[in-house]
Amino acid sequence: MKLLLLPGDGIGPEVLAETRRVINVLNAHHGLGLDVETGDIGGASIERHGTSLTASVLDLARASHAVLMGAVGGPQWADMAFELRPEQGLLNLRKGLGLFANLRPAYCFDALADASTLKRGVIEGLDILIVRELIGGVYFGEPRGIEILPDGTRRGFNTQSYTTAEIERVARTAFDLARQRDSRVCSVEKANVMESGVVWRETVTALQASEYPDVALSHMYADNCAMQLVRNPRQFDVILTDNLFGDILSDEAGMLTGSLGMLPSAALGETGAPGLYEPIHGSAPDIAGKGVANPCAAILSLAMALRYQLGRPDLAALTETAVSEVLNAGYRTADLLGGEGSCVVGTQGMGRAIAERLSA
Ligand code: IPM
Ligand code: MG
Repeated sequence: MKLLLLPGDGIGPEVLAETRRVINVLNAHHGLGLDVETGDIGGASIERHGTSLTASVLDLARASHAVLMGAVGGPQWADMAFELRPEQGLLNLRKGLGLFANLRPAYCFDALADASTLKRGVIEGLDILIVRELIGGVYFGEPRGIEILPDGTRRGFNTQSYTTAEIERVARTAFDLARQRDSRVCSVEKANVMESGVVWRETVTALQASEYPDVALSHMYADNCAMQLVRNPRQFDVILTDNLFGDILSDEAGMLTGSLGMLPSAALGETGAPGLYEPIHGSAPDIAGKGVANPCAAILSLAMALRYQLGRPDLAALTETAVSEVLNAGYRTADLLGGEGSCVVGTQGMGRAIAERLSA
């Protein structure tokens, strides 16, 4: 099995170095046999190759079983045109690999229930899976642009659009995953104001009736969903939503668990296509290079790859248990403070603690 590592920008290289440490241990002690290659993406790729994603890295990704990315973006590239920015490399990679389904679990580790800004009683035992459509909607819709109006002022515009086929394929992923959990899907859109939302709701409803009668389907408007996530997040099992709402709601759901530093994600395409696994925390330029970033999200992203793509659900579970044990033992990176009796560690300290448990 081949894994492509794309460290990228900001804290990306730091957290992927710890993930690499975990891979080494799984290779040495658990017969994983994973071949690792490394490539550039985002700002790192802009600096070295003049573009946020080269054709050769995309080819390398296509030839791998899975891709693990750190993060892209940073203030030094923020003034560039959209098509030149680091983020474009990520969007092109998602699009280039056809990764239409983005899985973003929000899971509350018991040891971290007090790290949330919400009360323990509200988030204890939280286990939500957001399935976000990833290569359609307003992120990619045409026409888009900025035009100058006759009076010299400007108009910025984007297009939200979803076809039946785009909705059905991501909805199937959500329904299939729900069957492995609590068999409940809540589909989220704004059918009260958007035509794309009407098509979304009707398509999901028809698909459930014809192919997934055993899965319970409910619908919610996106604004209500944002509110319900902080009011009573445990009401949800799988949330199925579009690209933009999914971007927003997954950050919100993530923070319920105490820190974005704990949350992995997977982007999946058609069966057999390599998936893209990434921590959802982003490049965090404010703490980059300081050795304090939390590597757990990246390590848990590796666990998702082991489960969904690399055929080693046993090692996925082992890795997740190691993370959980390290948290139970009191290890905390700076983003996770607030717990009692904490042992504050940096990026490497956390990575080492997890790797040690895996080699024991
Ligand atoms: C995410 C990020 C990306 C997105 C950015 C970096 C393009 O916010 O993965 O959630 O908006 O999809
Ligand atoms: Mg986001």
